[in-house]
Amino acid sequence: MSNQAAFLKEKNAQITVEERPIPKPGANELLIKNAAFATNPVDWKMQSSGNWIESYPTILGSDVAGTVEEAGSGVSHFKKGDRVAGFADVLASKNYDNGAFQQYTVLKDCAATRLPGSISFEEGSILPMAVATAGVGIFLALDIPRPPAKSQGGFLVWGASSSVGSAAVQIAASLGYTVYGVCSPRHSAYVKELGAHDTFDYNDSLVDKKIVQSLKAANEQIVIAYDAIVEHGSAQICVEVLEAFGGGKLCLTLPYPKDARQTERVEISSFYAARVVLEQDFGRWLFNEWLERSLADKTFIPSPAIEKVDGGIQAVQKALDMHKKGLSGKKLVITL
Ligand SMILES: NC(=O)c1ccc[n+]([C@@H]2O[C@H](COP(=O)([O-])OP(=O)(O)OC[C@H]3O[C@@H](n4cnc5c(N)ncnc54)[C@H](OP(=O)(O)O)[C@@H]3O)[C@@H](O)[C@H]2O)c1
Repeated sequence: MSNQAAFLKEKNAQITVEERPIPKPGANELLIKNAAFATNPVDWKMQSSGNWIESYPTILGSDVAGTVEEAGSGVSHFKKGDRVAGFADVLASKNYDNGAFQQYTVLKDCAATRLPGSISFEEGSILPMAVATAGVGIFLALDIPRPPAKSQGGFLVWGASSSVGSAAVQIAASLGYTVYGVCSPRHSAYVKELGAHDTFDYNDSLVDKKIVQSLKAANEQIVIAYDAIVEHGSAQICVEVLEAFGGGKLCLTLPYPKDARQTERVEISSFYAARVVLEQDFGRWLFNEWLERSLADKTFIPSPAIEKVDGGIQAVQKALDMHKKGLSGKKLVITL
């Protein structure tokens, strides 16, 4: 058996596909025969900047779905033959056995989830990074009680049509929050289908004022904000919206910009998705319990829409180039 892998051999090099041995899983790990993987912004950012890479060559990719080929000796939740999706943690482990963009990947069992028959491998492949990032932000950074506890109040998601933002919309709505999404008008209906009560257009220079006016008119308020984008002043605008309602909590997928206004009335935190493998009890709850249950009862669905990139593993560079140019309400998936 062979393992074709998409290697990055040096900073900013083009991806090249070569054979390598099939990796072996450790005690609490799974060897997955990959069926599909998806790209994330961090992949092209790592390729071009070299950030988070300790040595070359490496294999990028965080999102993967496939079949369990071998379960480590300490694994009890999964068995050979299970259909799974998982967070490939090369970003944190620095070990390219854990990169998604190859035919076989080693996953931590705490960051994998069994897929119900209703979810294809392609749909499964777009879940892990989005769920990890939304879940870590909501349950760890914002410290919101886990279900079945219920929450209430207004929850703003900036970038609600993005991969991470659309997952945050679904989780926040399922917890009981009244969700307000910020996205392009073309994605408003979709974001509402995912659970948002209303949406606002980030291209509108008065978006912050419109959010505040609209909620005050309805006697509602925003207590929490999740900024999935952190670009073009979005974090600062989230702060201003929260301050208009007396303050609150804001979490960010990137650090709060140094030149943004500091505030004491908003508690701001940023975080990394990789906490699902670093804090394994949390990862197990999120991936082995909550996500499995939520996919089975369809209270959480893979989002946003999938665009397939043809060409198998040879198409990794093409997919990274497409993602770098910017996506709108979709996720790129390669089927192996
Ligand atoms: N901290 C972490 O561990 C972590 C993990 C994952 C991702 N991230 C970061 O989080 C960010 C989002 O990642 P992603 O995978 O969700 O991205 P993505 O799906 O590729 O983002 C594309 C979406 O972003 C929306 N968008 C672009 N600019 C926007 C703006 N100014 N305001 C609101 N929406 C905007 C677009 O919306 P429209 O189409 O509606 O215009 C589009 O749907 C990236 O910077 C990524 O690097 C961080």
